[in-house]
Amino acid sequence: MTPNQDELRALYAEYMVPAYNFSAPIMVRGEGSRLWDIEGKRYLDFTTGISVCSLGHCHPGVVKAIQEQSATLMHCSNVFCNANGPRLAKKLSEHGIGGKVFFANSGAEANEGLIKTARLWGSQHGEKTDIIVFHTSFHGRTLATLAATGQPIFRNGMAPDMPGFTTVEYNNLQAVKDAVTSKTCAILLEPLQAEGGVFPATQEFMTGLRQLCDEKEMLLLFDEVQTGMGRTGTFFAFQHFGIKPDGFSTAKAIGNGIPLACFQLRKDLADLYKPGLTHGSTFGGTPLATAAGLAVIEAFETEGVLANANQQSEYLFQKLRALQQKHPAIKDIRGMGLLIGIQLDEALADTVAKCRENGLLVLTAGKGVMRLLPSLKVTTEEVDEAIAIIDKALP
Ligand SMILES: Cc1ncc(COP(=O)(O)O)c(C=O)c1O
Repeated sequence: MTPNQDELRALYAEYMVPAYNFSAPIMVRGEGSRLWDIEGKRYLDFTTGISVCSLGHCHPGVVKAIQEQSATLMHCSNVFCNANGPRLAKKLSEHGIGGKVFFANSGAEANEGLIKTARLWGSQHGEKTDIIVFHTSFHGRTLATLAATGQPIFRNGMAPDMPGFTTVEYNNLQAVKDAVTSKTCAILLEPLQAEGGVFPATQEFMTGLRQLCDEKEMLLLFDEVQTGMGRTGTFFAFQHFGIKPDGFSTAKAIGNGIPLACFQLRKDLADLYKPGLTHGSTFGGTPLATAAGLAVIEAFETEGVLANANQQSEYLFQKLRALQQKHPAIKDIRGMGLLIGIQLDEALADTVAKCRENGLLVLTAGKGVMRLLPSLKVTTEEVDEAIAIIDKALP
């Protein structure tokens, strides 16, 4: 029998590293935009497991694919190729930059690959080692990705930092130009900073970075861990800006809940990797994870996912702007597609708690920001329901 909430709280306190708060409600079931907790309460989920279950919880196509694959072959290691990986790589390449793909397990691991690529490339281009990154960015919890993350609080007590990162202001092209040296091999950024507070890049900034990288011979690398797979209304967020990176990572939503991530490189850059030597990952791209990935892509190609995401994004922004007229607590509304930030400042904690009490799950980001990450298949009725709850929760 599943223990009750109090028993789980006690087990958590005794046996789990407290990297997270024990946070009720304890979720036991999900379907589409809905979650149910251990006590049977139903929630409207506008967090999607932090942008992971973007097709909704337990998407039938993904469930079927992993059920079938798990009964056939779950893992064989990358010593042997599996029948799904190359097919998924082709799809991701076609939807991406026409590049080559390396499969990993998490966003941080995929970003490590980008950082390695930058250094491998830099070592063949005048011993360049340094990467320009940005304040309020978030790239992961490994030591390299923490050094790249422009929020030093996350690496407190973990010195020495990995060297070779220069952090500058986001959306400030001049600051980037001033930071470039003969040692700079790459610029790494999120096309929309999500964790840092939902700050989209400007068109001028993105075009300027592409030009700068071309002029100064540097790689332009995007972290699309959170923005990828339709979250901003295009398959990848860089597609809004009419430019292409030399490489990019993506993770969260590729497996719709099964851990899967990847980085994709311009085809000529992929030659930096030598079999069995330069990089590897025991679990990266297992038959099971890539079966989930193929089912996710299939849903994108056949279920009108992007069209719905864009339609609902427009509707949600419109409804939120109407709320802003009514509630001075809303200082700003930002974002792209279905990655939306509402600047609430001191009203944040209370509003988030009241939303939860009333059955709507939302996230926070950066300083004073409520973050909404609904399913890309969210319905108009669900948006209306969320808006009514937020309206009631706001001061
Ligand atoms: C933009 C970005 N990069 C990297 C990461 C780290 O991903 P993971 O937690 O899968 O390592 C995150 C996680 O939130 C993220 O939002």
